[in-house]
Amino acid sequence: MSKNQVCELLKIRYPIIQGAMTNVTDVGLVSAVSNAGGLGIYAPGIENIDLEYVRKQIRLIRAATPNSFGVNIMLASAFAAQLVDLVCEEKVPVVTTGAGNPAPYMAQFKQAGITVVPVVPSKEAAVKMQAIGVEMVIAEGMESGGYIGRISTMTLIPQVVDAVKIPVIAAGGIADGRGMAAVFMLGAQGIQMGTRFLTTKECAIPEHCKAALLNAQSKDAVVLGERIGVAARLRVLRTPITEEIQAYESQKDASDAVFNKSVADARGNPYEGGLDKVLLGTGQIVALVNDTDSVKTVIERISMQFNAIQEVPI
Ligand SMILES: Cc1cc2nc3c(=O)[nH]c(=O)nc-3n(C[C@H](O)[C@H](O)[C@H](O)COP(=O)(O)O)c2cc1C
Repeated sequence: MSKNQVCELLKIRYPIIQGAMTNVTDVGLVSAVSNAGGLGIYAPGIENIDLEYVRKQIRLIRAATPNSFGVNIMLASAFAAQLVDLVCEEKVPVVTTGAGNPAPYMAQFKQAGITVVPVVPSKEAAVKMQAIGVEMVIAEGMESGGYIGRISTMTLIPQVVDAVKIPVIAAGGIADGRGMAAVFMLGAQGIQMGTRFLTTKECAIPEHCKAALLNAQSKDAVVLGERIGVAARLRVLRTPITEEIQAYESQKDASDAVFNKSVADARGNPYEGGLDKVLLGTGQIVALVNDTDSVKTVIERISMQFNAIQEVPI
């Protein structure tokens, strides 16, 4: 994988990115991924961001790995501009963006030497991002955990690859070397995974969450906001609170305001208190996540599986 453009641009050994995961990605997980040769991404989240806490996490990650890493900025956050200032001050190597257009900040990012990699749900968004000068995009299919678009990875990746000249990283529904080889066949040059990393040894979510994920099937990765609510839909692990929210959502007189408030309230509930009331982003590929191996084992196994498939002639 030495000539891989994603590896060259991001200065990493494997073109494997650990996607930002609000309330999940901490110093331990991010540095484990970067130390294993992938790219770990830290997610400060959207609401109630303590900027000095984020600065401290960035410094701790830097101290825990000599390798490249990234920070995710959700541009819809009220803290977006302050986070941009912060990552520029801290000279974070890579920034992934979501939920908005990074155009107003591109000059500032470039000045700080930051590689900007937007997450996009469509070819139209990818074309826009190429036009503002980003070096690559992450195209995320709707199988993924967290906020989702409406196009599946299988259909999205070749469209984006055809629409832009910059390298494309595929996200959504990938958890092993077969998935990685499949998206490379569609023209991607890297992968971003979230769900696969949730059960790894270094991921700090409580054991009861990992146990639920190990037992979960694709049907348990449910979508909130299909009918009403904020523009973005959220794919999470089925729990009593998601069933309650979905039941409300399907009522004829359900209101956006009440729905949005229940989602926001549930998002604030800590994972430690049991699964009843939490929203844990989870993608459909959770069905293939069946171990609690270390990040290094997961990344090296994916690379081996990928290489074995590439060597098999058709
Ligand atoms: C628990 C969880 C939280 C997430 N939070 C964010 C986030 O804060 N910002 C973001 O850009 N993407 C977020 N994502 C999306 C991931 O970064 C990644 O693109 C996605 O998980 C890839 O699909 P997969 O889950 O099928 O691997 C989240 C995903 C999960 C599972």
